[in-house]
Amino acid sequence: MAEISFLIILYTSIIISAEHCVPRNFGDDSNVCVCNATYCDSVILQLPHDGQFRIYESSKSGQRLQSRLDHFDTMMENGIKLYLQLEKKYQAIHGFGGAFTDSAGINIESLSDSTQEKLLQSYFSEGGSRYNLGRVPVGGTDFSTRPYTLDDTPEDISLKNFSLTKDDTDYKIPFMKRALEINNELNFIAASWTAPAWMKTNNNYTGFLGFLKKQYYQTYAEYLVKFLEIYKSRGLKIWAISTGNEPANAFVPELVKFNDMGWTPNTVTPWVINNLGPTINNSTSNETIILALDDQRFDLPWYIQAMYEYSNEIDKYIAGIATHWYMDNYFSIDLYDRTHSAFPNKFLLMTEACTGSASWDIPKVRLGSWQRGERYITSIIDDLNHWVTGWVDWNLVLNEEGGPNWAGNFVDSPIIVNSKEDEFYKQPMYYAIAHFSKFIPRGSTRIDLSSHIDIRSVAFITPNNTIVIVLYNMDNQSKNVTIVDPNKGNINSKVSQQTIQTIIYRK
Ligand SMILES: *[C@@H]1O[C@H](CO)[C@@H](O)[C@H](O)[C@H]1NC(C)=O
Ligand SMILES: *[C@@H]1O[C@H](CO)[C@@H](O)[C@H](O)[C@H]1NC(C)=O
Ligand SMILES: *[C@@H]1O[C@H](CO)[C@@H](O)[C@H](O)[C@H]1NC(C)=O
Ligand SMILES: *[C@@H]1O[C@H](CO)[C@@H](O)[C@H](O)[C@H]1NC(C)=O
Ligand SMILES: *[C@@H]1O[C@H](CO)[C@@H](O)[C@H](O)[C@H]1NC(C)=O
Ligand SMILES: *[C@@H]1O[C@H](CO)[C@@H](O)[C@H](O)[C@H]1NC(C)=O
Ligand SMILES: *[C@@H]1O[C@H](CO)[C@@H](O)[C@H](O)[C@H]1NC(C)=O
Ligand SMILES: *[C@@H]1O[C@H](CO)[C@@H](O)[C@H](O)[C@H]1NC(C)=O
Ligand SMILES: *[C@@H]1O[C@H](CO)[C@@H](O)[C@H](O)[C@H]1NC(C)=O
Repeated sequence: MAEISFLIILYTSIIISAEHCVPRNFGDDSNVCVCNATYCDSVILQLPHDGQFRIYESSKSGQRLQSRLDHFDTMMENGIKLYLQLEKKYQAIHGFGGAFTDSAGINIESLSDSTQEKLLQSYFSEGGSRYNLGRVPVGGTDFSTRPYTLDDTPEDISLKNFSLTKDDTDYKIPFMKRALEINNELNFIAASWTAPAWMKTNNNYTGFLGFLKKQYYQTYAEYLVKFLEIYKSRGLKIWAISTGNEPANAFVPELVKFNDMGWTPNTVTPWVINNLGPTINNSTSNETIILALDDQRFDLPWYIQAMYEYSNEIDKYIAGIATHWYMDNYFSIDLYDRTHSAFPNKFLLMTEACTGSASWDIPKVRLGSWQRGERYITSIIDDLNHWVTGWVDWNLVLNEEGGPNWAGNFVDSPIIVNSKEDEFYKQPMYYAIAHFSKFIPRGSTRIDLSSHIDIRSVAFITPNNTIVIVLYNMDNQSKNVTIVDPNKGNINSKVSQQTIQTIIYRK
């Protein structure tokens, strides 16, 4: 009897702390975790008692956020040594998340109500990745079923025909609201891909060298503030708005296949100073902050420097600098360090990343790809070690084709839906982000951890004084790692090949 109740308690506590991944294999080490209306894997964090630490582990070989307890040691293993310095602090963290695109909403909506709920829980709940950032496009993007803006009535200079679309009311707002209910720390970042075509020099939502006409600088600022105010009236306060998605695309003929509008430092700066900044400040959405750039890292730091050279006044309107990850392989990560040194009061935030976007990335959706998860892991660790304060994925959810996308620009996503079977697949990319987002709440600060060529690593202290260390072993051999915390002792951890570990303990 006593044994039975003990077993029941044990069993219940396992159920409460973790529901295991139901794997499906797509060849080699390509595994997804399958979720449906009644089942989805989840993990509730368990902070260990003093003297112990807990290791959460995911790997190419199939582990997904599996955890175990261990205790601090006085001895060191033979192997890699990393030294922690709690008093040496770097940037504070804003958070992690993904984008509420039209396509994400269309895909979520294609599932039954209970499967939708499991999906949103997967991203926003304590048992899931605990995302606290959500990007939301103003109007359409290529991840929409058609190109459109929120006022496509030509020459509607008083914006009397401005209105939300079915995409806002059916595919964005309901899911944003539910996500906010699940995690009230969720902050939204708005970005517009283009002004209405009639406001532009080329009268087109896309196209090479399409710019905002000077005569519509104020009208477009009012258009964006209308969006902020309407979303706010629906209970969705927008934390930040960028000056526009990827303004450099308008200068690249190959990239002008979808919604875009060009800005240069010399055009965007006066627009922000004279129009967008004051219009937001005069509105009921005056708490919304402005992020500059919203484009590739290779624009740093010159683009921001050129904005300041145009006018120092830009300083009072810009709170942070948003970057995207495409082509990071070709441009040094120290562009972030240089930008931070030049503008220490402007936080850096990575606002868009996805795999499958390059023309040679075929198939667009590669179910279970560990290599794509690894690209996320290494990018997040590198960015966080170079002053970046958060990392925002692109579409939260796509279908098995990597869409819908009206321009045929299909890509991959951490969650793929199969609406025919009413199920969805959590890919390695999902767990890659979760190894950070779930453990590093807003207001955590990066602390110093010495680096070693044979392991990727980064460390934080949370507002609740939890130490969080993330390790990734890219190699084919396992590594012995010792982390030396002068106050607590040594953490000896074997990190197997292609394995990510998040280690947590009380300070
Ligand atoms: C949902 O998934 C669980 C776990 O794999 C399985 O037992 C159950 O049969 C599935 N339900 C449906 C409707 O497919
Ligand atoms: C790692 O540690 C184990 C003992 O725990 C030892 O047998 C092994 O040789 C070590 N590996 C390396 C690469 O140092
Ligand atoms: C614009 O709004 C006016 C009323 O304010 C309406 O009569 C007109 O049909 C609308 N035009 C379009 C294209 O929706
Ligand atoms: C808009 O630009 C795209 C891309 O250059 C082009 O294919 C399309 O025909 C243009 N549409 C109009 C209405 O000019
Ligand atoms: C903002 O408000 C100030 C003071 O009321 C006014 O002078 C200014 O024209 C307004 N600017 C914009 C862009 O609305
Ligand atoms: C914002 O508006 C307030 C009045 O509401 C004004 O005092 C302040 O100077 C404005 N700030 C900027 C940066 O325009
Ligand atoms: C925003 O406007 C309100 C009044 O509408 C004012 O009390 C508040 O100080 C303003 N906030 C900022 C950040 O300017
Ligand atoms: C921090 O601790 C408080 C009090 O124990 C708790 O309510 C809160 O959820 C914790 N915050 C985080 C981010 O874990
Ligand atoms: C790991 O092994 C594979 C073949 O099994 C090889 O292609 C790859 O280059 C190796 N990676 C590293 C980092 O050694």
